[in-house]
Amino acid sequence: MKIRKATEKDVKGIAHVHISSWQSTYAGILPHHYLASLNIETRMKNWQRNLKMLHNATFVAENSNGEIIGFASGGPEQTKDPHIQGEVYAIYFLKTYQRRGLGRQMVKSIIDELMKMGHKNLIIWALKDNPSCGFYEALGGHIIAEKTVKMAGIELIEVGYGWDDIQDILVHL
Ligand SMILES: CC(C)(COP(=O)(O)OP(=O)(O)OC[C@H]1O[C@@H](n2cnc3c(N)ncnc32)[C@H](O)[C@@H]1OP(=O)(O)O)[C@@H](O)C(=O)NCCC(=O)NCCS
Repeated sequence: MKIRKATEKDVKGIAHVHISSWQSTYAGILPHHYLASLNIETRMKNWQRNLKMLHNATFVAENSNGEIIGFASGGPEQTKDPHIQGEVYAIYFLKTYQRRGLGRQMVKSIIDELMKMGHKNLIIWALKDNPSCGFYEALGGHIIAEKTVKMAGIELIEVGYGWDDIQDILVHL
């Protein structure tokens, strides 16, 4: 397993992981018809745009065959909250590669990059019903914010896990 910075050539692999992981993670949370309709072309276009954002960083994890099996992205906090600087926007692995310690390794890469960008604290948003919230708790995150979001026509609660000092996450990796 190798973690490296993403390039434009990775757009298809990232979009595939994004859709597959959404389908397995959000089954029972988001409507089936919505998850089944997720479209690789649309996701690829989104990722083509994301990878061009100058202040963002995206990493991919590759298996020994060079296939992308996970990714993470982060950068400046997106709502311009005056108290929060850095944000991990997304972290997703294919189901078969979850719970093998790869998430911790991926977080290390993205946090190192956010620290290089000068971000001193951190937030990560997750759907409250996502079982992966346990991951952020294992990394020492505490819920510091909550909001309602509309996805696929339904209202869902998102919780924001915060770290006052971004370096605090490193001791859990
Ligand atoms: C969340 C995710 C990135 C974590 O990566 P991972 O490689 O599975 O996590 P790790 O193996 O590094 O886990 C580290 C620790 O976090 C905790 N943890 C991870 N996933 C958990 C879960 N689903 N429930 C409870 N605790 C969890 C555990 O304490 C784990 O240590 P352990 O396996 O020794 O008990 C990955 O599981 C994933 O892609 N999940 C689906 C997509 C998703 O929900 N992404 C986040 C959207 S906000």
